[in-house]
Amino acid sequence: IRIIVETGQGETQQLEIPDGINLSLMEVLKASGYDIMATCGGMALCATCRIDVIEGLESLEPVSDAELDMLDTLPDAGETSRLACQIRLKPSLDGLKIRVFGNN
Ligand code: FES
Repeated sequence: IRIIVETGQGETQQLEIPDGINLSLMEVLKASGYDIMATCGGMALCATCRIDVIEGLESLEPVSDAELDMLDTLPDAGETSRLACQIRLKPSLDGLKIRVFGNN
């Protein structure tokens, strides 16, 4: 699974994740060294794992009520904002392009 990540510095990086890995996008981003606090550990309770989707929004599951409630606490979040902890990796996400925030 290829995930393209645009950093806060405007750099574009590509992650290659083997198929069959049962992780969330938040866990993969953290493991890849991105500065994602994920204070709540992936429970959709902190919003520090927020990302914006640049391409591939249609390949994601619809946003849940809990996720939407957290995104609503972020003044600059928009229609393409998601919580990375609520995105499970699966082959259909191949080519997803996202933007990360914070010190990335
Ligand atoms: Fe807390 Fe995603 S890690 S909302």
